[in-house]
Amino acid sequence: MKTILDFQEKKHKKEKITMMTCYDYSFAKIAAASDIDCLLVGDSLAMTMHGHKTTLNASTNLMAVHTAAVVRGAGDKFVVADLPFMGYRKGLTANMTCVEKIMKAGASAVKLEGAIGNLELVRHIVDSGVPVMGHLGLTPQSVHQLGGYKVQGRDAKAQKKIMEQALALQDAGCFSLVFECVPSELAREITAKLEIPTIGIGAGADCDGQVLVLQDMLGMNADFKPKFLKTYLNGFDLMKNAINQYNDEVKKGVFPSEKESYS
Ligand code: KIV
Repeated sequence: MKTILDFQEKKHKKEKITMMTCYDYSFAKIAAASDIDCLLVGDSLAMTMHGHKTTLNASTNLMAVHTAAVVRGAGDKFVVADLPFMGYRKGLTANMTCVEKIMKAGASAVKLEGAIGNLELVRHIVDSGVPVMGHLGLTPQSVHQLGGYKVQGRDAKAQKKIMEQALALQDAGCFSLVFECVPSELAREITAKLEIPTIGIGAGADCDGQVLVLQDMLGMNADFKPKFLKTYLNGFDLMKNAINQYNDEVKKGVFPSEKESYS
């Protein structure tokens, strides 16, 4: 997928959209050689790549540095980059400076969390020529306000609110919406109602697409096992074993051999 038009086309053709996070050049090169549809430079990089407890530590400059690295490796993949915590809540000029830095780093679109207080900004960003992906349900930048990483939209009132916010973000010009940790039935209902594609993480099978954090799906984070996650590799053990093998071979004098040496 190369443009936002491809997202719309996939929705109309009922073809699933695949997205995964990517934070660096090396993985972007692998992603570029894969069939994945698009990449997200998520602010989850504050946790995955920098060891913070929440995404609140991602800054505009950090997002721009990682976005530029990903774009250098991503070939013609569509790259969405997150606007970080508080990067779009400080007034129009500051907000647009954040958008400008992320887009000049090479992103094809930006993503922001929540609808309340963001609708005018979404319109302004879209009118400035920048595609916007919305993000509803569990919005990790609001983890303290939400009282933790919990499934959202459990009761009728919360579901109505999420539905209204989805329609409002579509109306404001978002080309796609991420739904994180909401009941499958709600995601299905919203997906059927919206003209723009939905991309789910912990939102069931009926979204128009799915997104996962790359390190999680590769099993690199041995301690993180939420219900919604499926791991496609035992990355932690495989990589640890490779490192141990290298360590052993050096200590036993097996590596380097003549094959790896210059005469
Ligand atoms: O930052 C991120 O990784 C995300 C995904 C979980 C959708 O926003």
